[in-house]
Amino acid sequence: MTAAAPPRTTTVTLAVTGKELVAEGVATLTLARPDGGRLPDWTPGSHIDLVLPNGLTRQYSLCGDRWDAHSYRVGVLLETGGRGGSSHVHEQLQPGHLVGVGGPRNNFPMVPAERYVFVAGGIGITPLLPMVQQADLLGADWQLLYLGRSRRSMAFLDELAPYGDRVVVHAKDELGPLDLAGFLGTPAEGTRVYCCGPTRLLTALETACADLPPYTLRTERFVAEEQGAPARTAPFEVELARTGATVTVTPDVSVLEAVGSAGVEVLSSCRQGICGTCETGVLAGRPDHRDSLLDDAERAAGDCMYICVSRALTDRLVLDL
Ligand code: FES
Repeated sequence: MTAAAPPRTTTVTLAVTGKELVAEGVATLTLARPDGGRLPDWTPGSHIDLVLPNGLTRQYSLCGDRWDAHSYRVGVLLETGGRGGSSHVHEQLQPGHLVGVGGPRNNFPMVPAERYVFVAGGIGITPLLPMVQQADLLGADWQLLYLGRSRRSMAFLDELAPYGDRVVVHAKDELGPLDLAGFLGTPAEGTRVYCCGPTRLLTALETACADLPPYTLRTERFVAEEQGAPARTAPFEVELARTGATVTVTPDVSVLEAVGSAGVEVLSSCRQGICGTCETGVLAGRPDHRDSLLDDAERAAGDCMYICVSRALTDRLVLDL
């Protein structure tokens, strides 16, 4: 067996330069290079991978000022019953600590439009906050619907206050459930709807947008969409183009695990096909896409796949690994 290669996605070491509790259960971290140098640019909707000192990798949307080239800001919700990533951030990580950072990467890009409707549920505000700032800067017509359990649990209300009635805050403990379809109405032609939040919100919005033109709604998920059974149950082969190795992927393991056992470690995090960390180029063969990230056109192109969940339609895949 080959010696383990470093993770495919490059990480840099950044320092925690600030930590603040901005709402009940929500902390922000500010990260910067220890030498104060410039960080890679990013666009609204981007996230970074935090490679935590406890060995876990987690994705967090960038929610700071994208024109600040020297620091990143992320917002982290403390998930009770989570796998330990958010609790490590909340309880252990402190200013002065170092963390590995991968990315930025954007699976939720903002496309040009004359009008935007942003719908945030809870911590789903984080990728939408820079979109709001960008839409406002560009002079687009926009509205944000921000839903949460209570105002106490809703981060960044202070930063959103200057936008006045463009921002509709709906705290459930004050106002009860919202009629989402009624709020949305029939959006003007050319409107793009961006939503990030829990599954029930995304599902309700997908229903409300069902009759709108394709690509009107773009969503970012916290949990994976339900997938049917894999297209094939027989093993398939994966050739790793850079190393020349071939591995057999049996039905009980993922491509990620199979290539890992061949000594090629690919950085991963959610292992559910929702974060994008394990994106891998496909050079030949046809993937059985089982992620919650790619749209129909991207699936049809077949030139990349998320190897934590996606498998093969063909007997053989050649990956850019
Ligand atoms: S590890 Fe998150 S998409 Fe594969």
